[in-house]
Amino acid sequence: MSNGAPLVLVSNRGPVTYQDDGSVKRGTGGLATALIGLASHRDAVWIASAMTDRDVAQSDEHGGRAFEIEVPHGGNFRVRFVASDPEAYDRFYNIFANPMLWFIQHYLWDQSNAPDIRRHEVEAFEFGYNVVNEDLAEAVLEEIEGTDEPVVMVHDYQLYTLPGMVRRARPDVFLHHFVHIPWTQPDAWRVLPTRIRDEIFDGLLANDIIGFHTRSYRRNFLQCVRDLTEHEVDMERGVVRCRDRDVWVRAYPLPIDWRATQGVAERDSVREFEERLVRRRREYSILRVDRADLSKNVLRGFTGFDIFLEQHPEFAERITFTAQLMPSRTDVPEYAEYLERIEALVAVVNHRHGTPDWMPIDLKLRDDLDEAVASYKHYDVMMVNAMFDGMNLVAKEGPLVNERDGVSILSENTGAHEELGEFALSVNPFDVQELADSIYAALTMEPQERARRAAGLKQIVTSRDPGDWIDEQVADIRKKARGGAAVES
Ligand code: F6P
Repeated sequence: MSNGAPLVLVSNRGPVTYQDDGSVKRGTGGLATALIGLASHRDAVWIASAMTDRDVAQSDEHGGRAFEIEVPHGGNFRVRFVASDPEAYDRFYNIFANPMLWFIQHYLWDQSNAPDIRRHEVEAFEFGYNVVNEDLAEAVLEEIEGTDEPVVMVHDYQLYTLPGMVRRARPDVFLHHFVHIPWTQPDAWRVLPTRIRDEIFDGLLANDIIGFHTRSYRRNFLQCVRDLTEHEVDMERGVVRCRDRDVWVRAYPLPIDWRATQGVAERDSVREFEERLVRRRREYSILRVDRADLSKNVLRGFTGFDIFLEQHPEFAERITFTAQLMPSRTDVPEYAEYLERIEALVAVVNHRHGTPDWMPIDLKLRDDLDEAVASYKHYDVMMVNAMFDGMNLVAKEGPLVNERDGVSILSENTGAHEELGEFALSVNPFDVQELADSIYAALTMEPQERARRAAGLKQIVTSRDPGDWIDEQVADIRKKARGGAAVES
């Protein structure tokens, strides 16, 4: 960081994807949202996988090098797309990263049934996961060639073996890895064959600093290293002694770029959606906005609403539950099946409670930021009931722009709960009766109490921004590079 070289960011998903019709789509998910905020605050080059044919074409057009892009409503910066062999990429993305790692890190495996680890899965790691990590590692090495004291920030679970590859070629590099999803307890990791698990921990421990959203993920990671590897761990200070190096393990809760989100809320395109929403709204509105991911617990959300309607018939025809879900990872069979189960359950609940002119659940299977932000402004209740979720940025974006003192129902198993729990209605995501009761409690809450909670949430969300998040990490990078001692985070 001392020689003015740009910060090198590397992740699987990039800030944009180029679509077949020539349009540019902003990357979805917490990671893209966070890094767009970060990259537009710093001189950075962002290395990411080319995910569509058009991304590959763009990369070819620039000779595989970094080029300047403009992210819709996200600023300008340099991106380098890396194209991997399609078969390797498929094994990486659809078999190993999702579902294997994703499911381990969200406790999603129903272990008496799945997974079976066969040659298929092992080869997906060797000839898929590692190949894509290697391709991205090579791009990193090219970007830092000739720079002194380069700093590389690696992002998320798709890239656990990349740091080891970079470290072997450039022992002098400073590697910082941020994991955007939960880190689970040691037994969840015993699903993986020891050799694969060891490669993952070796790769990760090639970093100088490993960051998580919460103190509890940090603790779980340290416990994993203690129980599943030979390395010495200082649980208090969060340090792993790795041969002759120390690895710091820290918690940096991710804030949202709240000024940018407020800017989106002011857009004309958002206002157009709002007019339609307000014209059609019933007395009360419940909202959820999520990727259609198993970890988000969409089915129990609808079951909770079903129970609520059954136990409180006085709300019939007076309320709509809008669920805006973005289809995600649809080539992974578990995700495709989940989407079908969501549609089937919505049909059942609507059939059970609906009337000729009232559809209790309005399911919108699409990814439209303007529409989501318009809905944020007008909900009475927002439901975030994820089974497990790294942070959940929707839990921060909604209360920021909401104009009705809406109440947040928030799963205690989201990273956001560590910060926002005090002003939300906390729920155990498996307890659907509690969820139904919370919907009722939110809808009947005294206006003063709603206002108090809404103000509390807004205050927390606006107290930090991605600039602070990156500054905290850069401060640690500097401190560690100077040989400073770790302090508990
Ligand atoms: O934030 C968690 C995360 O899994 C990111 O790693 C990922 O980019 C995003 O959600 C969306 O998932 P995907 O890139 O598979 O669409």
